Amino acid sequence: MKEGQPQNIQRSEYTAPSHLIETTDLVVDINEDITTVKSVLKMSKNPAAESKAGSQDLVLDGGQDLETISIKVDGRELSSNEYSIEGEKLSLFDVPESFQLETSVAIKPQENTTLEGLYKSGGMFCTQCEAEGFRHITWYLDRPDVLSKFRTTVHANKKDYPILLSNGNDIERGEEGERHWVTWEDPFNKPAYLFALVAGDLECVEDQFTTMSGRDVKLQIFSEAHNIDKVGHGMTSLKNSMKWDEEAYGREYDLDIFMIVAVESFNMGAMENKGLNIFNTSCVLARPDTTTDAGYQRVEAVVGHEYFHNWSGNRVTCRDWFQLSLKEGFTVLRDQQFSAAMGSETVCRVNDVATLRAAQFPEDAGPMAHPIRPDSYIEINNFYTATVYEKGAEVVRMIRTILGENKFRLGTDLYFDRHDGQAVTTEDFVCAMEDANEINLEQFRRWYSQAGTPVVDALGEYDAEARTYTLTLAQSCPATPGQKNKQPFHMPITVGLLSSTGDDQALSITGDVIANKIRSASGEESVVLNFTQDKESFVFTDVPEAPVPSILRGFSAPVKLEYPYTRDDFMFLMSHDSDGFNRWEAGQRLAINVIQEMIANLQQAKAQPVEQSADIAVDQRLISAFASVLDQAIAAGKDPSFDRAMVAEMLILPSESYLAELMDVVDVDAIHQARERVRLEIATRLRPQLMTIYELCEGGYTYEATGSEIGRRDLRNIALSYLMQQGDDESVALCRKQFETAICMSDTAAAIRAVVNSSADAAVIVKSDLLETFYNRWENEALVIDLWFTMQAVCPLPGTLDTVKDLMAHPAFTLNNPNRLRSLIGAFAGQNNVNFHSVDGSGYEFLASQIIAVDAINPQIAARILGPLTRWGNYDTKRQALMKEQLNRILATENLSNNVFEIVSKSL
Ligand code: BES
Ligand code: ZN
Repeated sequence: MKEGQPQNIQRSEYTAPSHLIETTDLVVDINEDITTVKSVLKMSKNPAAESKAGSQDLVLDGGQDLETISIKVDGRELSSNEYSIEGEKLSLFDVPESFQLETSVAIKPQENTTLEGLYKSGGMFCTQCEAEGFRHITWYLDRPDVLSKFRTTVHANKKDYPILLSNGNDIERGEEGERHWVTWEDPFNKPAYLFALVAGDLECVEDQFTTMSGRDVKLQIFSEAHNIDKVGHGMTSLKNSMKWDEEAYGREYDLDIFMIVAVESFNMGAMENKGLNIFNTSCVLARPDTTTDAGYQRVEAVVGHEYFHNWSGNRVTCRDWFQLSLKEGFTVLRDQQFSAAMGSETVCRVNDVATLRAAQFPEDAGPMAHPIRPDSYIEINNFYTATVYEKGAEVVRMIRTILGENKFRLGTDLYFDRHDGQAVTTEDFVCAMEDANEINLEQFRRWYSQAGTPVVDALGEYDAEARTYTLTLAQSCPATPGQKNKQPFHMPITVGLLSSTGDDQALSITGDVIANKIRSASGEESVVLNFTQDKESFVFTDVPEAPVPSILRGFSAPVKLEYPYTRDDFMFLMSHDSDGFNRWEAGQRLAINVIQEMIANLQQAKAQPVEQSADIAVDQRLISAFASVLDQAIAAGKDPSFDRAMVAEMLILPSESYLAELMDVVDVDAIHQARERVRLEIATRLRPQLMTIYELCEGGYTYEATGSEIGRRDLRNIALSYLMQQGDDESVALCRKQFETAICMSDTAAAIRAVVNSSADAAVIVKSDLLETFYNRWENEALVIDLWFTMQAVCPLPGTLDTVKDLMAHPAFTLNNPNRLRSLIGAFAGQNNVNFHSVDGSGYEFLASQIIAVDAINPQIAARILGPLTRWGNYDTKRQALMKEQLNRILATENLSNNVFEIVSKSL
């Protein structure tokens, strides 16, 4: 139960800060028991503030964890009637127009389990200040629109903490007996959330980058000694990011040094602190034998993302936290573009869209649905959501699609130019796009204020006589909390028309509806339609024959598209569409279509008075579609230029989560059964092809994280997982052999995962042996042990919850490390649909108990693993009741955090 009513903060209530902080001078004296923080702030009244009549008070933010030692104004210690401390606010009465505020506080970072503010991770001290962590270090105006120049001196014991880091340049250092100190100065104005400090016994790999204007930048990646052999890929990714941002956005790095520190206990993936990024080890470390290919790609994306924030986030920052998507949505788009440039564009797009559908669509359809620029929050940490990030990226991407590449660049140039050094709003971003291009985005702005995933219904009509093709689009958007009726969105819909031979037809269209024409390298044509009405018809002229339309190419808008395609249409598009994304999409839709029919049959059979065996025969068109995908890969032989990653994507059936998202009442068991049935059919019918692929894609003896090598391994491992679907001795032997001879973690993990997920006798016999061998080999590699927990937690076989409970008692398990917690509990609740949603409610009860336990340690993480419980609205009445029972149990817990309270109460 919550004591007192938590405050709901409204976007509409924004007011400028009462005071400004010109300079911030910190002296942090780190000790094992008590750390003191002395802060000297040069402050003055903000001329832009609405002056509340007569009020000369200053209210600072702090945490309950600050023990205030002294407060001085212009050198004079304040007496107790000149200030008051109430909860998390320090009020100073009647301060001068401008003055120097000096405070001294004591904190205990070693006891800080929230991993926010200053805390201890392993043997090192580090900080996490976004969003509101700085107030747990010292009294401050902890809001993103108060920008200040920071100078930081860190003192600590020399032996345990030889490395002392903060933002900017180190300008001075010294020693005092067993202790030493370093002073850092950051020449750039920044809000407190970008402050960072690290003290530890760290090793460092150093490199160098020359910027486009010829400046040399020192690059350093720090980690504990046992991990320093895993920072090379992060360094390569950093240099690639710096180069890419210069070329794609004209953005040059600004300091003479850029540092990254890898820490083991971190709530998020990584943080963009000015000049001193702090990374979760999982997002920066990589070594072939310990890290999967997906891990390599994640490191590249996250290093890029945090680096790109230097412009989109740091140089131009947010006015308030409602504007979070200004930096996060835009920066996610930038990291997506970067990953696409480093690898396969289509594969990246497919993965981005798959993430959006699996994580953001459900959020947009659930009780926590909010616009990418929310209107209110209780706890800002709950709004680092798939909506703000992923949908936010889609919204900026749509602006790019509407404007085209070149005009978009004019827009970003103006945005960075105009707002460098400022704290701004998403509105400022859109204005820059408009002003640079003389375009009106008035209606487009609704994407920032309306929540929910729009549905687009499309219909095509060919008139042979007039040689016209009319594409009629209708849009609607479901109601979301607080938003019943929606206004139509401005959507860019990218369209191509395929002739009967599968070629793109030349496109001409009547009316002023085209945003821009896209011609691909090979000459195919698409148009971007500006779709702005509830219902609108687009008439293509000079169309020689009835086309098959390819709509929403590249997934040009984050919507659900409906078009009455037949299964034969899907097969046609799968093999002919010039748009890679839509080729993949056609395959997915074909599979969805087939699986949904099987699910319906399963449900019908179950509903019979005497349960009947369902007709769940698999439509053979799906099998032949998969066969031709495999045949192409076989025909390519060992040709290194063939895109095997794309073939691998084509062979992955839509996820159980996405299939669930598409159902009105989710039937986890039927989804699982039908999908597994299709997998078995593919495995059985296409065994020779799968075996050929498996052999053809065998690799050499050195690991490379190149797109083509990753694609080869992906394809081979997908073939292996299909082969294992039959659970035969031969396939189990292949797994064993691959497990024993693998030179990289992708291959090791794929082999062991296939065995763990199998209930076949041959697999069951070797399972525990492989798991034990794996554990013993990697006992000392935390990130690999995380994988070990996850592969057991996501196993769909019955009995997994008991395994998970046993694993909680494993000596390597702890609730205190977010990576470990997520690897077991998060993975079970988020990725193991059949077991988590077990109809006896045991999965729900388990998760609720863990949330209650974790909330007392780390509220941010507790709130993040809550997600699966809040989606009760999508399930049958029995499960709904069980889930709500657990949500109520959580709500009744004493001393519940605001984080968990907000999500549970809003979801009920
Ligand atoms: N600024 C965030 C980190 C952050 C998030 C700090 C929430 C405090 C609260 C950072 O830039 C970020 O977005 N990191 C992502 C990874 C990224 C590749 C999307 C993360 O940590 O998951
Ligand atoms: Zn970010």
